Amino acid sequence: MLRLVHKSLLLGACLFPLASAAAESGYDADKRLFRLDGGAVTYAFKIDPDGLVRSVYWGRRIGAGDPIDAAQAKAASGFDVAANVVPQEYAGWGGGLFAEPALKIAMPDGNRDLVLVYGSHRMDADGVTVEMHDIRLPITVSLRYAIDRATGIVARSSTIRNGTRGDLRIDQAMSATYVLPFAPDYQLHSLTGRWGAEWTRQQRPVSAAATVLESRRGSTGSENNPWFAIGRAGRSTEQDGPVWFGALAWSGSHRITVAQDVAGRVRITGGYNPFDFAYRLRPGETLDTPVFYAGYSGHGMGDASRLLHRFERDRILPKQGAAPPLRKILYNSWEATEFKVDEAGQISLAEKAARIGVERFVMDDGWFGARNNDRAGLGDWTVNRRKFPNGLKPLIDKVKSLGMEFGLWVEPEMVNADSDLYRAHPDWVIGMTGRPRTEGRNQMVLNLARRDVRDHLLAELDRLLSSNDIAFLKWDYNRNWSEPGMIGAAPADQQKIYVDYVRNLYWLLAELRKRHPNVEIESCSGGGGRVDLGIMALTDQVWASDNTDPVDRLLIQDGFTQAYAPGTMMAWVTDSPNWLNKRATPLAFRFLSAMQGGLGIGNNLNHWAEEDFATASRYVAVYKRIRQTVQRGELYRLVRPTPGDVQSTTLYVAADRSQAALFSLVQGTYRLDPRAPIQLAGLDPQARYRIERMDGEPLITEIPSVASGAYWMGRGIDVPLRGDFQAAGFILTRVG
Ligand code: DGJ
Repeated sequence: MLRLVHKSLLLGACLFPLASAAAESGYDADKRLFRLDGGAVTYAFKIDPDGLVRSVYWGRRIGAGDPIDAAQAKAASGFDVAANVVPQEYAGWGGGLFAEPALKIAMPDGNRDLVLVYGSHRMDADGVTVEMHDIRLPITVSLRYAIDRATGIVARSSTIRNGTRGDLRIDQAMSATYVLPFAPDYQLHSLTGRWGAEWTRQQRPVSAAATVLESRRGSTGSENNPWFAIGRAGRSTEQDGPVWFGALAWSGSHRITVAQDVAGRVRITGGYNPFDFAYRLRPGETLDTPVFYAGYSGHGMGDASRLLHRFERDRILPKQGAAPPLRKILYNSWEATEFKVDEAGQISLAEKAARIGVERFVMDDGWFGARNNDRAGLGDWTVNRRKFPNGLKPLIDKVKSLGMEFGLWVEPEMVNADSDLYRAHPDWVIGMTGRPRTEGRNQMVLNLARRDVRDHLLAELDRLLSSNDIAFLKWDYNRNWSEPGMIGAAPADQQKIYVDYVRNLYWLLAELRKRHPNVEIESCSGGGGRVDLGIMALTDQVWASDNTDPVDRLLIQDGFTQAYAPGTMMAWVTDSPNWLNKRATPLAFRFLSAMQGGLGIGNNLNHWAEEDFATASRYVAVYKRIRQTVQRGELYRLVRPTPGDVQSTTLYVAADRSQAALFSLVQGTYRLDPRAPIQLAGLDPQARYRIERMDGEPLITEIPSVASGAYWMGRGIDVPLRGDFQAAGFILTRVG
């Protein structure tokens, strides 16, 4: 009998700290089967007679009384014994396992065999904790499961404990393995990229040839974002079909391995990257793994990403009251001035930014230490008195008198060799004793795994925020690790850096937020190099890419929003031709591209003509009207852009369906090719909506000014664009 225990007492760590309602979890003692239900999803696993904990079902929600079970998997042949054939939820490397292990450990006596079996469990308000142990040694693993009632997104993580009397070396510690049943046609979607070209969508068949989505860089990186989605070839589209997806909440080296096992099932294992991993666990110590979230939708990639967006807004992002605060429209000085910042120049830009309705003025790199270029100054977070003779106060006062907040760029984890900090503490950087320290952008990475470095950074940032009226920090991180060792640490603890660095980064961010609760933070890593659900829990917005070209951005935004909420994604309007790819585009086109996330302006406003100020003022005012819908609404990717011929139509619908914002942009049009009418989605079919253009121009005669939701979704809107870099934006407002 399945006993629902969702009202039982909470024990163990809560993965949804802000969960307002309990999800439903149950344990069937006869079948030894666990079942979690949330949203439109059911997740089930069970304990086999031999104690192995086995995946049973993950997908569309099934009836409360429906029987769920699966026959026990047996050895397939002498080549594949039970440990390998059983789709284990969390497999130790031992007992004949060839599939990707969740945990691989070396004991001091040379033993490396680890077979984890069920010991006990505790149900709680939103899930269950299963205690597992090795068949011989007191090595235990707590497997934590929780399900989000609204979205059905499952959160899984593990805690490994050394109950032996000797040190253990953990070679591989993953958060969880998720399993899909056999199907011949799974397709894996992932997000790859590099600096200036992040968020490229990739798709490939899932087979026994494992796909490894990983970062070995010490941080999340752009190469493989820790997100995946798996659909069925020919069945799973943007609008329809089954999609399983997941994201790892970790901002360090990570790995998600996707492969079909010998039985054709798909196993998805994610956690710390085992590459160069070796974590010494002393007797009595524990190691926590990051949370690996995963969800399911029966309604395509679009619905899968909307579930994730909602989950991020409700469960991950920092909140003010019930929701994450709306993103302010910001101005940023970087593309206008680079390192040439000074009081007069910044004030002049601030005056112009205020004219168009900017709400937050952010001074970027160049304001501190000897920072006149990227060769000096990082590490010295004191104001450069040649550029700001009276400190930051006159600029901040001016910005505030213009009705804006003040924000500041920092890159706390880095140091230039030419800095007072490095001269005083050359041993504070990541490196290996006796080896050269490779520089990237002329900088080295501070070893934040060290307590003294962590405390120094806290003191510096705390001082900066306490002595200046700063509302926002852009927290940058402009290189990856090399020689990843801890100077001075014991050889067996050198590789702890992969865990301890990131944990200390999280601690530092959390402590700063606690001390300065009104300061918002952006995660930037030379663009989108550190975007994941771990950093998102401690920052308010992210910088998706240094590539600010509005056409490339449509591709970038299409990739970004597969995994992450548009409300977190900052997008700037910048100068034309674009600094990176030299493409020239009209200002209105740039606005309509950037207004699909958190809007920013990065132009050199000293070069603007009056008509540019007028265009910008109009779009800034429009953005303020639709901001809530864009940032907190539901995103429908109606026409997805493809490289070489970028055509993009996106629709944002307010949560209460009272408003919608439609953006249609084309890189170019061809011959006299007609465009299909744009059929909207997500509106209330019974309600009536008034439509208007964002540029204030009249509608073409074929478009009625008011019609039902059913009309806009059925008949659609004709948007005849002709020429290069053409764009149109529309607002639909419910009027009855
Ligand atoms: C990289 C960031 O992505 C840019 O926006 C800018 O802040 C520079 N760093 C400054 O060095």
